[in-house]
Amino acid sequence: MNIIDIIEKKKNNWDLSKEEIEYFVKKYTDGEITDYQAAALIMAICINGMTQDEILNLTIAMANSGDVLDLTDISDNIVDKHSTGGVGDKITLIVMPIIASLGIPVAKMSGRGLGITGGTADKLESIPGYNINLSIDEFKQNIKDIGISLMGQTLNLAPADKKIYALRDTIGCTNSIPLIASSIMSKKIASGANAIVLDVTCGNGAFMKNKDEAKRLSKMMSLIGKWANRQTVCVLTNMDEPLGHSVGNTLEVIEAIDALKGNMADDVKDVVLNLCIQMMNLSKKYPNVLETKGKILEVIENGKAFEKFKELVAKQGGDVSYIEDPTKFEKAPIITPVISEKDGFVEELNAEKVGKAGVELGIGRIHKEDSIDYRVGLMFEKKIGDEVKKGDVLAYIHASSPEKATECVGKINDAYKIGNKKIVKKNIIEII
Ligand code: URA
Repeated sequence: MNIIDIIEKKKNNWDLSKEEIEYFVKKYTDGEITDYQAAALIMAICINGMTQDEILNLTIAMANSGDVLDLTDISDNIVDKHSTGGVGDKITLIVMPIIASLGIPVAKMSGRGLGITGGTADKLESIPGYNINLSIDEFKQNIKDIGISLMGQTLNLAPADKKIYALRDTIGCTNSIPLIASSIMSKKIASGANAIVLDVTCGNGAFMKNKDEAKRLSKMMSLIGKWANRQTVCVLTNMDEPLGHSVGNTLEVIEAIDALKGNMADDVKDVVLNLCIQMMNLSKKYPNVLETKGKILEVIENGKAFEKFKELVAKQGGDVSYIEDPTKFEKAPIITPVISEKDGFVEELNAEKVGKAGVELGIGRIHKEDSIDYRVGLMFEKKIGDEVKKGDVLAYIHASSPEKATECVGKINDAYKIGNKKIVKKNIIEII
């Protein structure tokens, strides 16, 4: 068997056998297949797709490319959550402390930013001292001690996904159902949860641009979950505009802190509540569905969710004084407003355009090895449905230089459409 034949086969749109998929995953993880060969195969998969069997085989091979965690000594019912990615998606930072403060163990491995979508691992690293690189023992011990651990993809868990994920980001292969489904589900299977809630984002700022695509991805991931004996629920959420008020690593951490103190933007609140309710249902700890929403609001109001976040940050080496006083976070040197040129209502705030502008500012990576600037980003004062007057500030750009800020003003202006219609948005599209 050799990689060139495998690439040729997929290029010609033929199905790959289980053995060929395992060969690729193993040899690429071990470094015997080069990045350019893997890029060619990934591109062929992206263009020609995969059958259900190929996707299952790819997921299993990726999950088995490293350790597969057994968390049964902590709980026989660990519920995990994962998003297919979005712009301004800080939901994990809010949902997971809430869930942990409700007594449901949280063991989560998060990824870095991919394409225009942000990554929780990058956001966590913007907290000074926060260590996302834990050993398996540390990860498990943290969950035993405080009921939560959020780490990066640094353990030997699905290492094949880590490599393929970073590669996809730099070769324009992020929006493929076989690649997204196998990426997410391999990580979830390897990290030991037995129930999974998936936030499947849908809209111009997501990999899945419309409801049909999002449903196809959801069905594929549910099928993999069923096959792997993991209960899986998919919540389809709107990603036509950035979620909440901020986009950018530090800015989103600050918004998450605010949310945990009860100050949540409406769209963020809708998504947080729906995901938490699904996670609570799957945990079996809260059988009375009518009580779940009240319990979530209670741990936000009584400060338990915020305290849990502080505990998590402290446990993973982060400086809690930043969480207590977010004004300590380093700010971008240039903060520039984007001003409305007319009266009306915000009819569109295009998340894809915002995401692209954000990557240019330095929020995300253009090349695999790029470093990112935690300080930069965007703060939105006006969102879809809001009324605006000429001269109002639509958003603020946090940039590393005046040139970057000026360049970004035009892009953000272009992301807004101000018209006469007051649009009512739907944040939760469907639960599958
Ligand atoms: N999140 C992942 O973990 N993988 C993807 O491919 C997309 C989002």
